[in-house]
Amino acid sequence: MLKIGTLALKNRLIMAPMAGITNPPFRLIAKRLGAGLVVTEMVSAVGLSRGHEKTFRYLESDPEEKPLSVQIFGADPRIMAMAAETAIQKGADMVDINMGCPARKVIKNGSGGALLRNPTAVHRMVTAVRKSCTVPLTVKIRAGWSAGEANFLEIAGIIADCGADAVTVHPRFVKQGFSGAADWRIIREVKEKLAIPVIGNGDVFKPELALQMREVTGCDGVMIGRGALGNPWIFRQILDLEKGLEVRPPELSERKEIILAHFAHLSQIIGEERASKLMRGQLLWYTKGLPHSARFRGAFTGIRDIRTMMATLDRYFQTLMEHQENVRR
Ligand SMILES: Cc1cc2nc3c(=O)[nH]c(=O)nc-3n(C[C@H](O)[C@H](O)[C@H](O)COP(=O)(O)O)c2cc1C
Repeated sequence: MLKIGTLALKNRLIMAPMAGITNPPFRLIAKRLGAGLVVTEMVSAVGLSRGHEKTFRYLESDPEEKPLSVQIFGADPRIMAMAAETAIQKGADMVDINMGCPARKVIKNGSGGALLRNPTAVHRMVTAVRKSCTVPLTVKIRAGWSAGEANFLEIAGIIADCGADAVTVHPRFVKQGFSGAADWRIIREVKEKLAIPVIGNGDVFKPELALQMREVTGCDGVMIGRGALGNPWIFRQILDLEKGLEVRPPELSERKEIILAHFAHLSQIIGEERASKLMRGQLLWYTKGLPHSARFRGAFTGIRDIRTMMATLDRYFQTLMEHQENVRR
């Protein structure tokens, strides 16, 4: 169990916010498969303040996802404070401030990772959002702007002093993007300094690594992003490991069931055409490492209509299951 402010999570595992990926269907799957907390993708505070319908759609969620954290990004403390209020009105159980995004369109306005270069702005931002935020407040940071500006301890200290309830640390520099390895020692340093919970994040690609991260850093929670792409079962696998059980891959039938549920839910909320475009990438992840998956992916390219797509998927799994049956006999 992990307590963040007044919110008690059922376990210490958190699904990372990922733009374009952590929509309600994906979050629901992560939740069902064991994540203690799921987070929306980053939501523009300016978009909310201007009433953009598209931005508001990012706040939609399914009651089964609860507790839900909504991540907001922006540079203006007043607009961010209003965005937090809006997110709460729309059902957020927790608000997270993005202070790590390296995308040009985000940092050019002084939002996301750019905030780390300006401790005064961090102070103003967290103070303002804290005042308007009636639910637990967390902040997600990177290690600093660059190796020459590795100010994570100063920034984490400010965030805690301004009343945030937890800090998530992705220990890469903003300038690094996703290159190099996440330096877990940074998570440990932040954990040693702060009294509030520290959530470790970065490079947990296998269930064993979640346990290792906790052991090495002492972090209170573990956040998983890319390791859950195509393998949302990673949450269940980690929980099994914690119980001393063996890590098992999902049965083919369950894998197929989850893919179909993912697609059906996505189609329901954004329509079949857009869902089939988004699912293409997901399917590549879901089938990675399975026998003959390259051939399946080959058969998949070029297919536009949804029925053919599903029939191809069905045939592929049917062949895999028959093959498995023959091996078992
Ligand atoms: C496609 C993609 C989209 C992401 N979008 C967000 C985002 O919206 N907000 C955020 O704070 N981090 C975002 N991240 C960063 C992840 O939350 C996480 O910090 C990072 O991937 C490191 O964790 P991992 O090694 O477990 O993936 C994104 C990462 C990826 C790969």
